[in-house]
Order: sequence, then C-alpha cells, then structure tokens
Amino acid sequence: MHVHRFEKLWIGLSLLLIAAFIGIVLFGFTVMNLKVPGVETGETVDPATVLSEGPFAKPGVRKISDDHYEVYMLAQQFLFRPGSTRPLTLPAKTKITFHMTSPDVMHGFEVPGSGLNSTVIPGQVATFTTRFPEAKSYGIICHQYCGSAHHNMQGEIKAVPPSEFDESNLISQ
Ligand code: CUA
Repeated sequence: MHVHRFEKLWIGLSLLLIAAFIGIVLFGFTVMNLKVPGVETGETVDPATVLSEGPFAKPGVRKISDDHYEVYMLAQQFLFRPGSTRPLTLPAKTKITFHMTSPDVMHGFEVPGSGLNSTVIPGQVATFTTRFPEAKSYGIICHQYCGSAHHNMQGEIKAVPPSEFDESNLISQ
C-alpha cells in the first residue's frame, strides 16, 4: 500500500504529540512530584458528614506553636470558608499548614504570588504547608469549573506581620 509522504508526516507528528503528552504526565508525577491530593496520604473524609463532624465542621485557624498554625478550609459552591465572606487573616513568614476538602464538587485553590495551587476533591483532604513571604493581601481563586457561579468563587488571605496577629483570629476549640 502506498502512503503519501504528507500522510506519513502527519502520522509521525501525531505519534510524536501522543508521546509528548505521556512524557509530560510522567515528568509531572516523577520529577515534579505532583500528586493527587489526599490519595497518596490516605487522608479522607466523608463528604456527607464533613460539615457536621470533625475539624471541618469548624473551619478556621488553629495554633500549633508560636511558629506554626494550621487552617482547616472548605471549598464549596461558591466560596472558600474561611476566606470569601471576609479575608482569612494569617501571620506572614510563619509556617502555615492548610487542610482542605470539599463537601460538594471538585474545586481549585490557587493563591497567585504564593506558589500555592491545589485541586480540592470531595472526600480527599489536601494538606500542604507554606509560609507567606510578605505581609500583604493575597487573592484566592478557584481554578476548577465547579458550577454556574464558578467565576465568582474567590477569596482573600491577609498576611499580617506576626506581631500583629493575635488570638482573636483563631477559632475557639
Ligand atoms: Cu469552585 Cu470553581
């Protein structure tokens, strides 16, 4: 069978493209160490009860030590709790561990300028630790299409100088 040389070229290019896509995925999972949140660590919650039981029933900031705080945050249609109805206040330059999950559909959590970027999956807990380098406001955006008001799903993190961060920003246990 004779295959035209342009056909061969196109077949070659499309095979190359498939190989490149597979290569990019493998590169992400190996060299860049990208993970599906919560799947590797086995941290799971029941989306049906996450709003009424456990730490996500009272989302907010908890103190672990003078240099380490943790935030339990929900991403849900169509807000970040805390973060959307009023800014989430955190100390800058301090170790912050986020725990995130969703009670409804898949959402995204991205904080431009901080390097934070995670997918938030119902049933899985995404956990990551960071320090906000500067005392300033950071925006939060949802980067996964999650429904009719996805484009309005945003929030704010107010990183303040550690000396200005006080206990009133913590949630009561
Ligand atoms: Cu939540 Cu898009």
